[in-house]
Amino acid sequence: MIVGKPLFTTKEIQTKVRELADRISADYSGKDLLAVGILRGAFMFFSDLVRAIKAPLTIDFIVASSYVKMATLGEVKIHCDIREDISDKDVLLIDDIIDSGITLNQIRERILARRPSSLKICVFLDKKERRMVDVPVDYIGFEIPNEYVVGYGLDYDNKFRNLPYISIFKKKA
Ligand code: IMP
Ligand code: MG
Repeated sequence: MIVGKPLFTTKEIQTKVRELADRISADYSGKDLLAVGILRGAFMFFSDLVRAIKAPLTIDFIVASSYVKMATLGEVKIHCDIREDISDKDVLLIDDIIDSGITLNQIRERILARRPSSLKICVFLDKKERRMVDVPVDYIGFEIPNEYVVGYGLDYDNKFRNLPYISIFKKKA
């Protein structure tokens, strides 16, 4: 297993997070923001982002999984759902990466069924060419090529999530 040199360094990540947080702070001033992180992948991005958002907010999480090793299952399992009452909340769904779009699409529909005041989506990475389902994403950190990446919350087999940067990951026989 090889983790290459950073695709995005800690510094580049911090700059991008601040940029996203500034946009979100402006867009949500006067709103009732509920930031919902999708665990486990979004834990690092989520905590950096909410720390940098200046608008008042509340937080919650969804624990979901769709990936086994490097192949997507196309099926999303919800292990733990939002606890907050989301009616009258401006929900911002936050994830580490959008790939096929299957995960975010299913979670989005699940949240919309609970009729929040509004729903927007923020992802740190977008693997655009892999998209199978069209999902409206409002805030994107970086578009990346079709490569498997780890670090900054992103894993391979639940490893490498703690890396403070993002790297392309290659599996060696
Ligand atoms: P999607 O349902 O195909 O959009 O997949 C979304 C989920 O798959 C993300 O939230 C990640 O947890 C995982 N994922 C997709 N691509 C990668 C990657 O390159 N590295 C690590 N996890 C990934
Ligand atoms: Mg994820």
